[in-house]
Amino acid sequence: MKVAVLGAAGGIGQALSLLLKTQLPAGSELALFDIAPVTPGVAKDLSHIPTQVAIEGYGQDGLNDALKGADIVMIPAGVPRKPGMDRADLFNFNAGIVKNLVEAIAEQCPKACIGIITNPVNTTVAIAAEVLKKAGVYDPKKLFGVTTLDVIRAEAFIAEAKGLNPEEVNINVIGGHSGVTILPLLSQLGLDFSDEEIAALTDRIQNAGTEVVEAKAGGGSATLSMGQAAARFCLSLVKAMQGEPVIECAYVEGPGEHTKFFAQPVKLGAEGIETVLPYGDVSPFEQAALEGMMDTLQGDIQKGIEFAG
Ligand code: NAI
Repeated sequence: MKVAVLGAAGGIGQALSLLLKTQLPAGSELALFDIAPVTPGVAKDLSHIPTQVAIEGYGQDGLNDALKGADIVMIPAGVPRKPGMDRADLFNFNAGIVKNLVEAIAEQCPKACIGIITNPVNTTVAIAAEVLKKAGVYDPKKLFGVTTLDVIRAEAFIAEAKGLNPEEVNINVIGGHSGVTILPLLSQLGLDFSDEEIAALTDRIQNAGTEVVEAKAGGGSATLSMGQAAARFCLSLVKAMQGEPVIECAYVEGPGEHTKFFAQPVKLGAEGIETVLPYGDVSPFEQAALEGMMDTLQGDIQKGIEFAG
């Protein structure tokens, strides 16, 4: 199993690479690519951790070599938010980065599963799909917008609010990955929430990224929790590709019940998505939120299709 991380020298990239170096199965290969000159050093640093995961760092000219033979490519390359910005403000910086990187993937490892972390995820995944389509290698079962951070935040906040063990909370978070498009299905947990609690928790989960951006005061957005979220998703994918199916929520092209791309639970298997699963019953509050997010999500997707078109 070879995993490539593109944007590996950044805040998320380094945290993710550390977790993969220590948790990928023995015999795996980890390829770190970033345009930052420090990248070979990051790989050298991680190579001193004694695990049976081979690691190689690639600078500026090494993208093709990093991608060659990759089974999974995780992409956290790009600019993060600063206070006062929302994820859509990142479009002008990050759309071109994702387009170029996915063009290289289409050439070097067209059968790889791709996890897009770069924001705005609602849009960058649509860009990636269009690029892969143009190259004639698009397989919707292998393209994922990584929304696992919304899931782990929901697990942490619910456990905190209800005094539960966070490791025992499992929740579906559906829709997209920005503001109102993030919808945690709290009603499915069988917990006793008042209407006020539901509204407050939903709002906190939707705006948790901004909580971090403001607390970091200009120093970027979530990197460590995102590194953990990306590692959870990537390791689930590895497990599934090695024959042990796992369920995770991700932003994927599903049956198109709502929008072309939609975050929902998916059963991961040997070839990426085995089945897109139904997300189950929703409460009237969640139904209204679902209807309320559609225009935003649709607009975000359209922007990506037009950019790559
Ligand atoms: P960062 O600035 O710390 O790191 C980004 C890295 O990307 C840098 O090392 C930079 O050199 C590299 N990079 C830029 N252009 C590149 C290219 N063309 N090829 C390869 N590498 C390139 O940023 P951070 O905090 O790691 O965030 C990265 C992205 O992840 C941002 O777009 C951010 O908005 C997004 N993000 C996504 C989340 C999600 O839940 N999906 C959560 C948090 C952040």
